[in-house]
Amino acid sequence: MANKGKVKVGIIGSQFEADIHAASFQIMPEEAEVVAVASPTPGHAAELAERYNIPRVFLDYREMLKEKDIEMVTITAPNKLHCQMTLDIANAGKHVVCEKPLCMTLEEADLMIETCEKQTQHGYLIG
Ligand SMILES: NC(=O)c1ccc[n+]([C@@H]2O[C@H](COP(=O)([O-])OP(=O)(O)OC[C@H]3O[C@@H](n4cnc5c(N)ncnc54)[C@H](O)[C@@H]3O)[C@@H](O)[C@H]2O)c1
Repeated sequence: MANKGKVKVGIIGSQFEADIHAASFQIMPEEAEVVAVASPTPGHAAELAERYNIPRVFLDYREMLKEKDIEMVTITAPNKLHCQMTLDIANAGKHVVCEKPLCMTLEEADLMIETCEKQTQHGYLIG
């Protein structure tokens, strides 16, 4: 990770699994801090942000990826979006945590792993 101390996290998605991710990070405040959430339905990311005191809210996750201090992004969006989101996150130089199932095909999985290995310092892709 770029900085010592807490890992700064962004969450993509705002519903069932996003809530679990946000709650999980809250029980390890020394290790990680959720600083942003992105979800395309107006109001949904803001609701999650209010529940968990997340300071930054985005409708488009690609805008969230421009935030330089975010080191890791978790994906809680529908399965068919996992591959493209992983590529976008890794290409922004950030580590990826992806909800299961990892993706739709073995070809997508290979591409996701290869891109994370190439673009991030340690190549983390956790699925
Ligand atoms: N629900 C479960 O019990 C469960 C268990 C294990 C894994 N998962 C996995 O977790 C993931 C999310 O599941 P869920 O139940 O939270 O789904 P959900 O339908 O409740 O939420 C999906 C979220 O993704 C967001 N989203 C959709 N398109 C998007 C886009 N283009 N950009 C950003 N966000 C977008 C939606 O707005 C919503 O916030 C899925 O991959 C699912 O397989 C779910």
